[in-house]
Amino acid sequence: MADIGKNLQRAAAYLTQGDLVAIPTETVYGLAANAFDEAAVVKIFEAKQRPAFDPLIVHTHSIEEVTNIAREVPDVAYQLAEKFMPGPLTLILPKAERIPLLVTSGHNSVGVRIPRHPLTLELLRQLPFPLAAPSANPFGYVSPTSAQHVQDQLGGRLPYILDGGECQIGLESTILRLNGDEVEVLRLGGLALEELAEVIQVSEAKIRTSSSNPTAPGMLSSHYAPRRRVLLGSIETDLPNFDAARVGIISLQKLFPSVPLEHQIQLSATGNVNEAAKNLFSALRYLDSQNIDFILAEPMPKQGLGRAINDRLQRASFQAEE
Ligand code: TXA
Ligand code: MG
Repeated sequence: MADIGKNLQRAAAYLTQGDLVAIPTETVYGLAANAFDEAAVVKIFEAKQRPAFDPLIVHTHSIEEVTNIAREVPDVAYQLAEKFMPGPLTLILPKAERIPLLVTSGHNSVGVRIPRHPLTLELLRQLPFPLAAPSANPFGYVSPTSAQHVQDQLGGRLPYILDGGECQIGLESTILRLNGDEVEVLRLGGLALEELAEVIQVSEAKIRTSSSNPTAPGMLSSHYAPRRRVLLGSIETDLPNFDAARVGIISLQKLFPSVPLEHQIQLSATGNVNEAAKNLFSALRYLDSQNIDFILAEPMPKQGLGRAINDRLQRASFQAEE
């Protein structure tokens, strides 16, 4: 307990002086800075080598605080907040004056999220400002789901990583754009569409998940990608075309006798898509570190977080084909 208090204090001190801190959330680790401090936010873009056109999500601890970040909070946002915040949901709302345009990449809208991780919620409660934070990975790479992942890639560029253990969900938040009562899904993520459907209507037509147009933020198709080429499809069909000693496998439950066991990841032995989601990004990172040429992955069942996993696998495979 004493340690946790000290760690929080340290994180708060760095953030208050305008430095970056990596923070745990239930989705993925974030790379945080004071959202009101432009000089601090610049450091995020530098550390990630993130292009300035890709806007950041602003994190806070309560729906009351959202009114300092967003100029207007429509009724549907309150309904969603009541049920899903804190949680793996980001709402795109009209931006408040106080949020620098650097945070929103010049857009008049801002992404707002209340994360559910107890450490980060407590940190946000202690700070007198919200935190702008993208995922704590170099731009375009797989998001981190442990403090070690952050350390491996950005450790040298960060004064402090607040270690909150492994992320419980393991996929980034679901992003919704609200235009009055119109709801658009900009990114599938840690909150399943089935759950959202308990509060709002989400028709398939309103799911805009991938694009190669960089002016459509949040929807870059080549993203979340490991260095190894990813082939998404039926592993049984694809495997005979490869040297089995040189491939890695990401399956939900299957094992393939011709492939070395240390190159195979079963995302969930019991076929549970939530468990699969939690394991996906460390599986991609692990296979990226192995001496193989390709990653063969199979699509997950199209239900619950299975859809968001498929979206990430698809984006991982796009980059490989360029
Ligand atoms: O779970 C998450 O959302 C994690 C944790 C740290 O909160 N954050 C995260 O941030 O995934 P990031 O920056 O890696 O992805 C956020 C996406 C970006 O692709 C960005 O384009 C989109 O959200 N986004 C942010 N603000 C937006 C806006 N005003 N309009 C449209 N898209 C926006
Ligand atoms: Mg990201």
